[in-house]
Amino acid sequence: MKGNSMNSETIGAAMKKQFIEVYGVKPVKFVRAPGRVNLIGEHTDYNGYPVMPIAIPFTISIAAAPREDRQVRISNTDPIFQAASFDLSPDIPHSDTGQWANYVKAAANELCSRSDLDLYGMNALFSGDIPNSAGLSSSSALVIASALALLAVNDIRMDKTELAEMMARGEHYVGTQGGGMDQAICLLGRQGKAVKLDFFPLRHTYAPFPDNHSIVVAHSLVRAAKTENALLLYNRRPAECRLATAIINTRYNAGPPLSRLGDLPGHAFFTAFANPVDFVNETFDKSSYTLDEVANLTGENAESLTSKYLMTRSGVPMPSPPEGFLIRQRALHVLTEAKRVEESAKALGCGDARMFGKLMNESHRSCDEQYGISTPELNRLTEIMRSNGALGARLTGAGFGGCAIGLVRDENVESLLDGVREEYYNTFIKENHPELLKTVSSPESLMFTVKPSDGAYTRQL
Ligand code: GLA
Repeated sequence: MKGNSMNSETIGAAMKKQFIEVYGVKPVKFVRAPGRVNLIGEHTDYNGYPVMPIAIPFTISIAAAPREDRQVRISNTDPIFQAASFDLSPDIPHSDTGQWANYVKAAANELCSRSDLDLYGMNALFSGDIPNSAGLSSSSALVIASALALLAVNDIRMDKTELAEMMARGEHYVGTQGGGMDQAICLLGRQGKAVKLDFFPLRHTYAPFPDNHSIVVAHSLVRAAKTENALLLYNRRPAECRLATAIINTRYNAGPPLSRLGDLPGHAFFTAFANPVDFVNETFDKSSYTLDEVANLTGENAESLTSKYLMTRSGVPMPSPPEGFLIRQRALHVLTEAKRVEESAKALGCGDARMFGKLMNESHRSCDEQYGISTPELNRLTEIMRSNGALGARLTGAGFGGCAIGLVRDENVESLLDGVREEYYNTFIKENHPELLKTVSSPESLMFTVKPSDGAYTRQL
């Protein structure tokens, strides 16, 4: 996972040259939007609980020029991504699943839903170095960069928070039912700071990232592409949380129904419990529920539950999981993870990197045991990080593969990287999945070290 070697000036100049070759005119705007590493708070955002990510110095860049019609033409410095074009409208037809154009369309489609924005099209050249299918939010960076480029060529300024919320909705165009973390951190990231984000509505505060510490990121080599099976697995988690909310609403029937688990803290029936774990154990007496059992508990029939809570973008219901809906575990993770984020913000506020590392470890365990989003590879990789000097280690992002992160003192970065290289890639992966190493040039290309970086920006070219 190399990259980030070129600074904005150099990459801007290189893209300008290629842009002129492709479009025959000069680009006038340059946009850069970063990927992210989520430090803690996994799968809490769409539940209305906080997260704490950082922006990283791997980015999507766009050189763009306005057009006098409504067409958007896109091309990429990497020939693997085919050129495409489409017309601006509030109902842009999708490209085939998995096509990169869908992320650009997601941004355009959402901006066009605003009748007060009369947008003209653009010619745009994209370039990026955020590894994809790694859980580092390359897709949201692409969506945000596209939105910023369209706004920039139309000379429109938009508040970052407003844009982040719009694009969180907008990204559902591609079929994911994610929350708003990735779009928000992409816009609100700040050098040297972890960003605590709260949702509904989006709010942010900065917490100091510990001095003399870094985050080591290492790819587990399991791809986490949200266009494949991982999309179904990912979307099932918000669905299980919606079912949990429906059960709570019927059971406590206290005032206006909760929209999501994050509404719980405002309710006396919840705060009457000594802690969230007691609440969850009391409320969900089974570990696994069939749809019919949820129907019995909520008084709604299975059909109505399906159409309210279990639909995919294409209008097909999600299949019920063979193990049933693991609602109790999911709620347990979400509520304890929310608490860990609050405790993490406090720990960072007083420079307590050790405490923060401990919370990262607890978060990983909960992601694995309660939320079911880890893999044996991510478990091994995080163990190796811990035994090689990481104060804390966990998966980052949606899970089901992708990267693990370790918090480490700067002076221990090299020995941590050595440990991961030897014990994970050269031993664990070589013994268990040698085929995964075939496409990799060297273990060095799978690991990097980051500190919090600035969020997205636009400038003249
Ligand atoms: C993906 C989603 C985010 C968030 C994470 C899990 O990255 O896009 O909104 O839900 O998964 O924390």
